[in-house]
Amino acid sequence: MDYSSLKIPNHVAIILDGNGRWAKEKGMSRSKGHEAGFDNLKKLSKYILSKGIKVFSVYAFSTENFNRSTEEVDFLMNLFVKGFKKEKNYFNKENIKVVFSGRRENLRKDVLESMDELTNLTKDNTGGILNICLNYGGHFEIIDACKKMIKENINPEDIDEELFNKYLYQDLPPIDYLIRTSGEIRVSNFMLWQMSYAEFYFPNTYFPDFNEEEFDKAIVEYTKRDRRFGKIDYDKK
Ligand code: FPP
Repeated sequence: MDYSSLKIPNHVAIILDGNGRWAKEKGMSRSKGHEAGFDNLKKLSKYILSKGIKVFSVYAFSTENFNRSTEEVDFLMNLFVKGFKKEKNYFNKENIKVVFSGRRENLRKDVLESMDELTNLTKDNTGGILNICLNYGGHFEIIDACKKMIKENINPEDIDEELFNKYLYQDLPPIDYLIRTSGEIRVSNFMLWQMSYAEFYFPNTYFPDFNEEEFDKAIVEYTKRDRRFGKIDYDKK
């Protein structure tokens, strides 16, 4: 779709939800749903970042997701390793810079290695940022930023929003548009600091089916939103 008459958000974030239900409805295992989700993410990140959106954040695995069955956690970790290794040249060729947000503790060595490899390979790319939140929690991100500032003896008087942002896992612009697929209406401890003035969109579509056309619809909706950031346009009232 031609986006020239639409409002383009700078930072879009998606809570990828519904892989399991997508698979169940098709009589398949949850694992197949995650594989389909990964394939969709690959295509969607290329599409989104080709439309002038600068940052695309995704919630791949929350700190709480470790409470799922060992079988599912192992499957997901293996999928990440396999996927990052297999697709690293794809992301690089598409000029996408991949970064990760989250705690490194508790992640397997091979997972960390595949993440680092992808990050290093794509670090100089200029075609947009794909921020993958893995072993991520929004409260932990804020706590970890505070710990880091204290360890570095930052003067409390110097702390403002700009400085605080630099101590987060990644120094990214605020989220303009937050999408959660699958009809669930909650934010589940995702990028709490960054979403303070985000517009929200909750389509019923499961993530593996949230394709380019679904994203086009989301941007048409975003274009209709009147973002005031706490201000009032008295001439319009
Ligand atoms: C939500 O579906 C998805 C996850 C828990 C995370 C896994 C995401 C992927 C494998 C796709 C993208 C991959 C990367 C690396 C970003 P769910 O299991 O919560 O589905 P359900 O709510 O229908 O059970």
